[in-house]
Amino acid sequence: MSPSLRRPSIIPDYRQSGLQPVPKPWRDFPLKGMLLDADTIRERIETLASEIQEETEDGPLLMIGILSGASVFMADLIRHMRGELEVTYIGVSSYRSGITSGSLAWTLPLQVDIKHRRVMIVDDILDTGRTLEIVTTHLESLGPASVKRCVLLQKHRESPHQEGDAPTIQAEHVGFLIPDTFVVGYGLDMDGQMRQLPFIGSVLLPES
Ligand code: IMP
Ligand code: MG
Repeated sequence: MSPSLRRPSIIPDYRQSGLQPVPKPWRDFPLKGMLLDADTIRERIETLASEIQEETEDGPLLMIGILSGASVFMADLIRHMRGELEVTYIGVSSYRSGITSGSLAWTLPLQVDIKHRRVMIVDDILDTGRTLEIVTTHLESLGPASVKRCVLLQKHRESPHQEGDAPTIQAEHVGFLIPDTFVVGYGLDMDGQMRQLPFIGSVLLPES
């Protein structure tokens, strides 16, 4: 199927959704509530996988996950895919302290040759877009056939942030559009904590 004939993806929009109570085993975590439950995430990932699956019809795909945030998402996503697929990871850390983003550092270099290959970058969340932009530029300099991006979450930014404007880079595949609030779980962390939650939760910040 040519790209123009593919169905446009309807991205579930959780910007206006209220929070659900935090499931019992995780009640003691510092959370305001649950934004996306495990079933909702699982169903959406199945759809995302079939969208990406169509891309493997054009040839083998190399998925590059950004550690550590994309690890849980990647593990679930690839288990729905049947096409020719190779999976690898790179490490990039934005050295956040709590919820504040800082400078970017490469923590694990790319281990495979991507020349002439079709690449899909996989990350947990697109916020300012700085991480995906830097990773895309780096990978494009290595001569791949193409580079696309897939993220589980995209934060909706109403107004320019102190860090910069709305994202300058877009992801071709987005799981959910969410409000501009700090979230954890399903691989996303706050100071290295709470990645293990099977749902996406909104953090209880000291000032909120
Ligand atoms: P960006 O470079 O601003 O787009 O931010 C992307 C990276 O920051 C993601 O890969 C996450 O690791 C982290 N990040 C951004 N927003 C959140 C959040 O709400 N919770 C946890 N991590 C986040
Ligand atoms: Mg990350």
